[in-house]
Amino acid sequence: MFNKKILVTGAGSQLSKALEQMVKSYTDFNFDFKTKMHLDITDEKAIKHIFSQNSYDYCINTAAYTQVDRAETESKLAYDINAKAVGNLAKACNENNCTLIHISTDYVFDGKKNIPYTEIDQPNPINIYGKTKKAGEDQVLKFADKYYIIRTSWLYSGQDNDFYSKILDLSQNKNVLEVVNDQIGTPTSVYSLTEFLLSLLQNDPKQYGIYHFSNEGKASWYEFAKKILEFNDIKTKIIPVTSQRFKTPAQRPAFSVLDKSKVKEIFNFVPQNWKEALKLIIKNY
Ligand SMILES: NC(=O)c1ccc[n+]([C@@H]2O[C@H](COP(=O)([O-])OP(=O)(O)OC[C@H]3O[C@@H](n4cnc5c(N)ncnc54)[C@H](OP(=O)(O)O)[C@@H]3O)[C@@H](O)[C@H]2O)c1
Repeated sequence: MFNKKILVTGAGSQLSKALEQMVKSYTDFNFDFKTKMHLDITDEKAIKHIFSQNSYDYCINTAAYTQVDRAETESKLAYDINAKAVGNLAKACNENNCTLIHISTDYVFDGKKNIPYTEIDQPNPINIYGKTKKAGEDQVLKFADKYYIIRTSWLYSGQDNDFYSKILDLSQNKNVLEVVNDQIGTPTSVYSLTEFLLSLLQNDPKQYGIYHFSNEGKASWYEFAKKILEFNDIKTKIIPVTSQRFKTPAQRPAFSVLDKSKVKEIFNFVPQNWKEALKLIIKNY
């Protein structure tokens, strides 16, 4: 007999795929994974319908417009998915006594600090993606009573087209890799985030609010790439460059390390160091 029924939106996401892999052994949860094809979160009627047909205890929203550079020219679409649709989900959750777990981002911050961002620091996004994700958080705060907004950073899974896979691909095709060294954050394994979400579901403290979750430690993209090569025993040369070398449509925060004190205190959950999490991805997945 299942205790809790959980809707997961955006089931094609790297985060949802990790959840799907890891929940197989959790018999007390009944997960309902919905890809965009089966539940488009911008379709308000479809959201109302699915909530009328099911009694969900939790909704984990992993659906998002995540193309940071493309968002600069597709701002309406990014806003519709990352903000407007989140408002509809929040309303549906509230009307159906369902707790919303919404995933947000370190890119809500402008990166001007040089010590880790806490949940009481003021967001000030510097690109369209960050602005739409901040607007999504505002929708949750406005419409949901029972909610967790989990801000995370630099998510990777070791699969598909994530940073990890791109670095491995490039290392096969180039003699020298150039990677930016002036953006500092924390790489976060989707499996670490999944473990945290599962622990939240198992021991929900019902202390709703905004939480920061990433792996521990900090790195530049260059340092992250260097460890990906080193741990895979790849000898391709890699050199650090500044963001000026690779101009992108969207500006990125120079510093976006998240302070995890609140997660540690309220959930009694200590995130793994990013290098250990990276080794596990290489070993297990
Ligand atoms: N990736 C990162 O570095 C990072 C960092 C910080 C925070 N986050 C946040 O973490 C969450 C998960 O990120 P991720 O990297 O795992 O995502 P992802 O792999 O980019 O996947 C996003 C998913 O959302 C789906 N989607 C888009 N529009 C949708 C809609 N209207 N209805 C339903 N599904 C829709 C996409 O489907 P299609 O592919 O079919 O469009 C895709 O499967 C997101 O909220 C993201 O903002 C990510």
